[in-house]
Amino acid sequence: MEKEYLLGIDLGTSGTKTVLFDTQGNVVASALEEYPLYQPQNGWAEQDPRDWWNAARNTIAAVLQKSGANPAKVRGLGISGQMHGLVLLDEKGEVLRNAIIWCDQRTQAECDEITRRVGAQRLIEITANPALTGFTASKILWVRNHEPELYARCRHILLPKDYVRYMLTGEFATEVSDASGMQLMDVANRCWSQEVLEKLEIDPALLAKMYESPEVTGTVTAEAASLTGLKEGTPVVGGAGDNAAAAVGTGVVEEGKAFTTIGTSGVVFAHSDKVTIDPKGRVHTFCSAVPGCWTVMSCTLAAGLSLKWFRDTFCQAERETASGMGVDPYYLMDQQAEKSPIGANRLLYLPYLMGERSPLLDPNARGVFFGLSAIHTKYDMLRAVMEGVIYSQRECLDILRDMGVVSSEMLACGGGGSSPFWRQMMADVYGLPVKTVASKEGPALGVALLAGVGAGVYASVPEACRQVIRTNPPQQPVPEHQTRYQEFYQVYRSLYPALKESFGELAKL
Ligand code: XUL
Repeated sequence: MEKEYLLGIDLGTSGTKTVLFDTQGNVVASALEEYPLYQPQNGWAEQDPRDWWNAARNTIAAVLQKSGANPAKVRGLGISGQMHGLVLLDEKGEVLRNAIIWCDQRTQAECDEITRRVGAQRLIEITANPALTGFTASKILWVRNHEPELYARCRHILLPKDYVRYMLTGEFATEVSDASGMQLMDVANRCWSQEVLEKLEIDPALLAKMYESPEVTGTVTAEAASLTGLKEGTPVVGGAGDNAAAAVGTGVVEEGKAFTTIGTSGVVFAHSDKVTIDPKGRVHTFCSAVPGCWTVMSCTLAAGLSLKWFRDTFCQAERETASGMGVDPYYLMDQQAEKSPIGANRLLYLPYLMGERSPLLDPNARGVFFGLSAIHTKYDMLRAVMEGVIYSQRECLDILRDMGVVSSEMLACGGGGSSPFWRQMMADVYGLPVKTVASKEGPALGVALLAGVGAGVYASVPEACRQVIRTNPPQQPVPEHQTRYQEFYQVYRSLYPALKESFGELAKL
């Protein structure tokens, strides 16, 4: 029988990666196209949706061409995407302005407006989250408040990946996992919240049709087929927000399973068969890409970003050596950090370079080195950065544990998850075995598997994962390390409460 394929598109912040898989989840071909991030003002972050579409269509064409795969044998495709971004289209389906994306922080006044209109308690009850600058609802209100003429011409509101879907299929559709991050959904009932829409005066006709993640939402049009090389009529499933997609791609689709991603942001993500909401809103409850299930996740804003900042600011020599040796500078940095002992000779780092979402919800928080002394070297500072990032994930994990969302092992993902040194630190600080999955394609594989479910290749999402996802042997926590880290973690936890007011004062200057 001729080989069959599934296609996964992952619309990230730095670029779009498209991967063609066979139905056993093996990579057949992959392609990446990057695009710019615009920061017109401090704290603003925008991208051009047309860049996303160009990247998607070019990378689809590239993987089909490279692999020589018969497009008629692509059973389906799924799209994963950066969550929360706001795409506004006019009546002709044309982009009205650049998308305001997930890490944009301009909407504090609109968050206050949302809380006022809906009520703090009620908002958490319905949308499972307090009003957050990162989420889509406040971005919609910002455009309405600041660009009313443009807003008056808006006929469709879409999330980033749903714009690419529209360009592929002509359908205005979304799915529950990504739509959960818009703050317009009744997350427990997996539908748009009439109450929230009424209180915010947002016309429901502007919103896309809601699907479950593995459902077919449309098929590739003749025009998109001619631009990409796909076959007209290829099914496009709901897909998922990037974290929910990574969950499928790592097999975190059953109670008791969890992963930590150290990418730019840091995410601790757990599957749950029931809706569990943190009444304080410190972590997010979203619908899972597995129909009928939910997820609880935290998102810290400067995880891998902290190490990247340290690399770019202090590690010029390492970068040059690494480039001469043909290795990744992070590989050398791991070796240097290992020269410093646990606790970095009594130096702690708070990773709040971008303000912080989980668990602080404080845009004014900033990074701190605490305990700096004349004995400290760059190695100690480097180790402190890596430890601080892991402590911040542990603080989020503790909240999940308090909510009763527990897991007996952790998968490590993202760039940071690929470092054995950082993974051991995670195992020691969490007190859990830490594993990686064999496939490195998390979100793209996740949505390809969802496409496989929609196209009838697999019976269900958990069944697809059982057939495809393989894990590597775990790294175990070392008891003596655990005890030592615990002592430093206690001091780490005491620092933010002590500094909270000072961060506020600093922000006013
Ligand atoms: C999740 C979040 C990020 C984005 C970036 O709430 O804001 O993980 O999805 O990719």
